[in-house]
Amino acid sequence: MNKIRSVEFKNEQLHIINQTKLPLVEEVIITDDLERIAVAIERLEVRGAPAIGVAAAYALSLSLKNIPFQLRTEVFEKAFQRMAATRPTAVNLFFALNEMKNVFEQFKNEKDLYEKLSAKAVALHQEDIMLCGGIAQQGVKIFTKRSKVLTHCNTGSLATGGDGTALNVIRKAFESGLIEHVYVDETRPLLQGSRLTAWELNKLGIPFSINTDSASAFLMQQNKVDLVIVGADRIALNGDTANKIGTYNLAVLCHFHKIPFYIAAPSTTIDKNCSSGAQIKIELRDKNELISINGKLITNEDYSAYCPAFDVTPNELITAIVTEKDLFKPPFDLKHV
Ligand code: MRU
Repeated sequence: MNKIRSVEFKNEQLHIINQTKLPLVEEVIITDDLERIAVAIERLEVRGAPAIGVAAAYALSLSLKNIPFQLRTEVFEKAFQRMAATRPTAVNLFFALNEMKNVFEQFKNEKDLYEKLSAKAVALHQEDIMLCGGIAQQGVKIFTKRSKVLTHCNTGSLATGGDGTALNVIRKAFESGLIEHVYVDETRPLLQGSRLTAWELNKLGIPFSINTDSASAFLMQQNKVDLVIVGADRIALNGDTANKIGTYNLAVLCHFHKIPFYIAAPSTTIDKNCSSGAQIKIELRDKNELISINGKLITNEDYSAYCPAFDVTPNELITAIVTEKDLFKPPFDLKHV
C-alpha cells in the first residue's frame, strides 16, 4: 500500500491533500504560491502540528523562487511574517520557520539560495518522517497487553510529514498484536476524528468505531478503554500540553477512572521557551465552524458561539509523554529533551 503523505514536494510544487474534503472526496491542491499555502493552513486543508511546520518550510523556500537578488530580504521577511500569522498554537510551525530563517541568513548572498532553502525544507520533512518512526518505536512500550484504545483528533500521516504520532503508535502496536479496538472521538467542531482518523484507520485495516466526544465517559465507565493516547501542538517544559479542544476533558476522565493518559509528540513539539501551559496562546476559530457543517447552518446564525481550537492539559494528569527519544514520566523536566 502506498504511504499517505499529507504534503509532497514534486517538480518544485507542493502537493497538499485537501483535508477539509476527506473522507468523501480525495483532492490534492498543487501550488507553488506562498499565499495559497498560508490559506491552506488557515482553512485546515493542511493541519496537524508537524504537517503545518513542513508545509510552512516548503512555502518559505518557494517564496524565493525566481526572486531578484536585491528583493530577497524583503520578500523573505514578508513571507516569514505571513506564515507566522497563520495559526498561533502549534510550535512546530515556528520551529520550522526559524530553521528556514537560519538558512536564509547563512546563504542570503549566495547564488543558490533558493536551492539551499529547498534542500532545508526537504531535510525538515525527512526529519519529521524519522521522528514519527521513533515515536512509534518508543510508544509501543506503553502496551502491557492487547488493548482497547481511545484517541482524539487526528494524529496520523495526515497530521505530520511522516506516518504520525499517537496514531503511528497505535499502528505499530496493531502490527505487534497489541490493539483490540480503537475508539475514535469524532472531535467537534471540525470532525478530525470521524473524518480523518477513521479514514486512516480504515486504510490500515485497524478495527475502530467512531463515538461522539461526549460518549467517552460512558465508554470508560463500561471498562471499554484501557488507555488514551493523543498528540500535542505545544508542550511546556513542565509537561503541560496544548492539544485539540476536548483533550483536557479526556485527561480528567482518565484520572477519575484510573486509566493511563498518554501524549505522543516529536521532541520538536516541546517549546523550550515556555515554562508552563499558562504561556501557551490558544487559537480561537471562527464561530461558523461551530454553528454550521459543510457550510450548512445547524443553528441560528445570530447565536453567539465560543470556539477555542485547543486546550491545555495540566501535567499532573499525564501518565507519560512519548517522544522519539524516550518516554518521559512526571515530574516532567523537559529542558534537555
Ligand atoms: O486544529 P488541528 O486539526 O490542526 O489540530 C491538530 C491537533 O490538535 C493534533 O492532535 C496535534 O496537532 C498533533 S498532530 C500529530
